[in-house]
Amino acid sequence: MQLFGSLLESVKKPFHGLRPLKFSYFLPTKLSFGFGSVEGVGAETKGLGSTKALVVTDGVMVKTGIAQKVTDRLAIPFEVFDEVEAEPKIEVAQAVADSVRSKPYDLVIGVGGGSSMDMAKVAAGFASNEGTARSFVGNDMFARKPVPSIMVPTTAGTGAELTVTSMVTVEGHKQWINSPLLLPSVAVVDPELTMTMPPGVTAATGMDALCHNTEAYLSGLANPITDSAALEGIALVVKNLQKAFESGNDRIARESMSLGALMGGIALQAKMVYGHSIGYTVATRFKLAHGVSCGLPLPYIISDYAVACAPKMKKLAEAYEVDPSIEAQALGREVAEKARGIASGVKIPTTLREIGVAESDLGTLADECLAMYPRPNSPLVFDRKSMAQLYRRMWEGSLEA
Ligand SMILES: [Fe+2]
Repeated sequence: MQLFGSLLESVKKPFHGLRPLKFSYFLPTKLSFGFGSVEGVGAETKGLGSTKALVVTDGVMVKTGIAQKVTDRLAIPFEVFDEVEAEPKIEVAQAVADSVRSKPYDLVIGVGGGSSMDMAKVAAGFASNEGTARSFVGNDMFARKPVPSIMVPTTAGTGAELTVTSMVTVEGHKQWINSPLLLPSVAVVDPELTMTMPPGVTAATGMDALCHNTEAYLSGLANPITDSAALEGIALVVKNLQKAFESGNDRIARESMSLGALMGGIALQAKMVYGHSIGYTVATRFKLAHGVSCGLPLPYIISDYAVACAPKMKKLAEAYEVDPSIEAQALGREVAEKARGIASGVKIPTTLREIGVAESDLGTLADECLAMYPRPNSPLVFDRKSMAQLYRRMWEGSLEA
């Protein structure tokens, strides 16, 4: 493995940014957090001056009555698009585009997990921009400002209510529609809506939150704002994921997980490192929930990044409730063990072998990871050999970097 010179130099300094410290942070979203905050959705629609809303959600949200908890409070006419699927394909994004353009909607409300919120975010963009859904795949493809949007998460994981990204699957590969214009107008984060999440969904989405916070903290683009959010987010997930998984009606655990996920959304402006890239290479092939696919590599990348991010490891260890008084590499291994324990505690697979990856495919997956999902912000630069070694370690279950 090769260390990236300039970033390696920079990790020796606080926040591993160059000196003088220089960064920008942009988050125009109004946030309303707490039990009962969904009561205020109607006032938010009025505050935005909207007259007709499209609610973007999925069938489960409608069937379980959770979508109705939002729509009952809307003070303006609305219609519901409930055909969002998990890990939505580009065809779903196109259906959303057709729906939002069929009537003069001037507000989009996303209700659900990351997939529904991602589709709601692009719907707001499609409402005011011409072109096929596929033509927006990539970065900064929206010429005009989207119509206003309100996001109401019903899981505690993606932080999508505060991010610029919408993920779509195009011909079997994870791709993204990215634009700062997609940042929602309002995020209403009500932990009450997460109380009935089944344990499996609690586990996967909670691991996603842990990944967002940890990968953002290890990113070369981290800054004091993203680091503060990330460390708080990690501490909240470490303390509460197991409790929320075992006792879904534990209100403090649910509230803490909602807050931890939200912190991940704030931290995500530092971007992800190779954990999410690795996750993308196995998600579609093995039909894994997003939080499972990115949760699996997390312990291994913590172990790998420990030396490159040495000056930051003690704070990371404290957030993971690991004794920080050992040197960076050994500390990385300890934190990695802790992360693996958290994953297996909530029944998330921790090796590639477990999810069905064939030993003979490791090289292909490693090559795809580097070719399709590069991370210029990674403090570690992987070549084909070191990435293949990482995939082998993930297959065998070895945390030894
Ligand atoms: Fe994620």
